[in-house]
Amino acid sequence: MILVTGGAGFIGANFILDWLRLHDEPVLNLDKLTYAGNPESLASLAGDARHVFVQGDIGDRALVDRLLAAHRPRAIVNFAAESHVDRSIHGPEDFIQTNVVGTFHLLEAARAWWMALPAAEQAAFRFLHVSTDEVYGSLGPGDAPFTETTPFAPNSPYSASKAASDHLVRAYHHTYGLPVLTTNCSNNYGPLQFPEKLIPLMILNATRGQPLPIYGDGMNVRDWLYVSDHCAAIRTVLDRGQVGETYNVGGWNEMPNIAIVNTVCALLDEMRPDPAGPHARLLTYVKDRPGHDRRYAIDARKIDRELGWKPAETFESGIRKTVRWYLDNMQWVERVASGEYRNWLDRNYADRSAT
Ligand code: NAD
Ligand code: TYD
Repeated sequence: MILVTGGAGFIGANFILDWLRLHDEPVLNLDKLTYAGNPESLASLAGDARHVFVQGDIGDRALVDRLLAAHRPRAIVNFAAESHVDRSIHGPEDFIQTNVVGTFHLLEAARAWWMALPAAEQAAFRFLHVSTDEVYGSLGPGDAPFTETTPFAPNSPYSASKAASDHLVRAYHHTYGLPVLTTNCSNNYGPLQFPEKLIPLMILNATRGQPLPIYGDGMNVRDWLYVSDHCAAIRTVLDRGQVGETYNVGGWNEMPNIAIVNTVCALLDEMRPDPAGPHARLLTYVKDRPGHDRRYAIDARKIDRELGWKPAETFESGIRKTVRWYLDNMQWVERVASGEYRNWLDRNYADRSAT
């Protein structure tokens, strides 16, 4: 079996659902169930013996030691993290605790377990660390996209904590020989994303007739990748990636935020017209995010050239599926958008009056 951490979050849940559609190899899912973890995302696996869920922290060494000894996974895929830049600005401590200290404890547990394995199992073992393009910092308009050799220059507490974890993963390979792999991926979108991130937030607010808050001038650029393409890239790297290497993963789809939000509005106008008028009437420019990175862009040629992965979904097809999914799963959205979520909206948007 494989051990997936953070499997009740957005990408982890998509990864497990896709994995069990494609394989019968069981998944042990270790997730702390923070605000971002939602067991309902995996409700379709209820009663499926191939999915074993354990609520717990990647930083709980005794727990991880017990799980490794009991389940003997052939690989660990580490998704568990605090993942939202805006939350890292309001409260960085959880990011240091999970992304840095938690990853450190997970690596220590993996190292001890791996060192005691028989030679054949030791050679086959993998620790795959799922990371972000944000570790590379921000690009100017004419700069070449990030490659695997771009120096790290993280700008937010989130990206700094992810960069620190990437460095630890690298060091565990170079120092101890732990067979690690790292993926650095661009912005994901798709089903099951918590509605604090740009695309689901805009879908939710638009369907409620609420303002669509655009930070700054709306011209910050991200590269967007449909989540199932990211999951396929991770499976590819796990299967065929060269130990110790990092792979950039991206959608070859750079877009400014305002274009993303306009696309969402146009799809909602088509799929669920609002008698009050086009959804784009709700666009509201608000105070910018401090330290807001201007542009991310990923050069994903290495994973294509060496491992044969490229995205299957275009932005047009992926965003259409995504908007459809949210409209068809409003119950899921309404349930996650309760208590703690409302507190978050107050914290993040209350002092962002329209500009
Ligand atoms: P998410 O916030 O939706 O999910 C994170 C999951 O980790 C949640 O289920 C949460 O309960 C769990 N978790 C948090 N702290 C934990 C801990 N200490 N122990 C165990 N579980 C814990 O995040 P996501 O968007 O699914 O991102 C998953 C991973 O992919 C993260 O490492 C993130 O940095 C990386 N990533 C995300 C994106 C993106 O666009 N979302 C892009 C590139 C890389
Ligand atoms: P986000 O989904 O938080 O991802 P990240 O910061 O990791 O790229 O934000 C994506 C972009 O959308 C980013 O440039 C910030 C912007 N944004 C808004 O303009 N308004 C919002 O309410 C949010 C949440 C994000």
